Amino acid sequence: MEKRSKIQESTDLFISHPQSTSSVAVKLRTALRRTTSKIGSRSLATTGFPPPRLFDYDTVTKNLTVNDAISSVEEAFAALAKGNVEVPMPMHIGIHESSVAGPGDCHIKGGYVDSTPTFTVKLACVSFYKNSEKGLPPGSGIFIVVNAATGAPLGVFQENRFMTDLRTGAAGAVAMKHCSTPEQDTVGFIGTGAIARNMARAAAAVRPFKGVAYALDHAMAEDFAKEMGEELGMPFEVASSAEKLCNISDVIFTQTPGSSTVLEKEWLKDTGVTIIASGSDQPTKQEIPNDVLVASKYISDLTKQTSKVGELRGALQAGVMSESDVYAELGQVVNGDVPGREGHEIIVVDLTGTGAQDAAIGQVAWDKLSQL
Ligand SMILES: NC(=O)c1ccc[n+]([C@@H]2O[C@H](COP(=O)([O-])OP(=O)(O)OC[C@H]3O[C@@H](n4cnc5c(N)ncnc54)[C@H](O)[C@@H]3O)[C@@H](O)[C@H]2O)c1
Repeated sequence: MEKRSKIQESTDLFISHPQSTSSVAVKLRTALRRTTSKIGSRSLATTGFPPPRLFDYDTVTKNLTVNDAISSVEEAFAALAKGNVEVPMPMHIGIHESSVAGPGDCHIKGGYVDSTPTFTVKLACVSFYKNSEKGLPPGSGIFIVVNAATGAPLGVFQENRFMTDLRTGAAGAVAMKHCSTPEQDTVGFIGTGAIARNMARAAAAVRPFKGVAYALDHAMAEDFAKEMGEELGMPFEVASSAEKLCNISDVIFTQTPGSSTVLEKEWLKDTGVTIIASGSDQPTKQEIPNDVLVASKYISDLTKQTSKVGELRGALQAGVMSESDVYAELGQVVNGDVPGREGHEIIVVDLTGTGAQDAAIGQVAWDKLSQL
């Protein structure tokens, strides 16, 4: 036992300072070599793993679609509700502006779905606004998929938010599948950017629908309706206001930057509407007004997260809801613990994006791209 702990201690130092030439490091390295050779061919060194495979942006975007992600994201939600997913709270590194850095933000999320062969850590860099001066986009990102049996990184996926958008769309599909009915066949999209496209593709994987689009930027809504109509082979129209969209929509996806609320309770159909909100993923955002949340069967993707960064946060802060008003987490509906739609109620599904989804899309990406 003592020999193993000495070996471990030396190994740890060797790993943290592999290039160090200090006398302590040299002695430790020699000791490690001697001890390693003493215990025969069993390798304790750090060189036994092959390097992780690198998948560039083109490879990732050409080989993965939102449809690839839906069933594994659904399974991840089911596991999440059973407590079978390890999801730490996200980590944030603020990069303050200086002569050599920033400004920018780095978000790190990750997760592990129990009994799956990999876990995932995701690093997303956003708001590097000064990149535009260098002709570069303001954001970038990678997923690191790790072998859950050995802890060795298997693949690094340069996805620049593409995989995040896929797993977000997949969550939209899971919400629509479990919290709406086939009779709800008019689907509105408020905000028509990158997330809306993934929501539309994902919704189409659940069932055919008539699409309605509205965005503050009217030209964006026109482009979205034309592009999605052609791609999905379904009718899409553009609404001249959010109110008009709400008047006719049975399911409403909202995916705006969330700086102000995008609909009003009086605008909603009284035959039961399902609102799937994904724009709010920061403590400063809210798309759905508090009176709609209060009147709804409110379903979170993960209450410990929506209470901090989702729609629920605003209602909690205003004192009009408490966590006991949460009807369910989405995974509980997936598991059949509680019913989804029962009648003409308003349902709000609050999607802030969980590490479970990241783990699911990481596994999908590895399964598919490692075969190339
Ligand atoms: N929940 C998640 O898992 C998750 C994941 C990724 C991104 N997001 C969030 O989703 C949001 C949308 O991201 P995106 O990349 O699609 O953005 P985008 O910039 O591509 O599109 C935003 C759209 O919203 C419209 N819009 C803005 N304010 C509006 C308003 N008040 N009413 C109607 N339309 C409005 C814009 O015209 C545009 O069409 C962002 O806030 C982003 O942070 C959430």
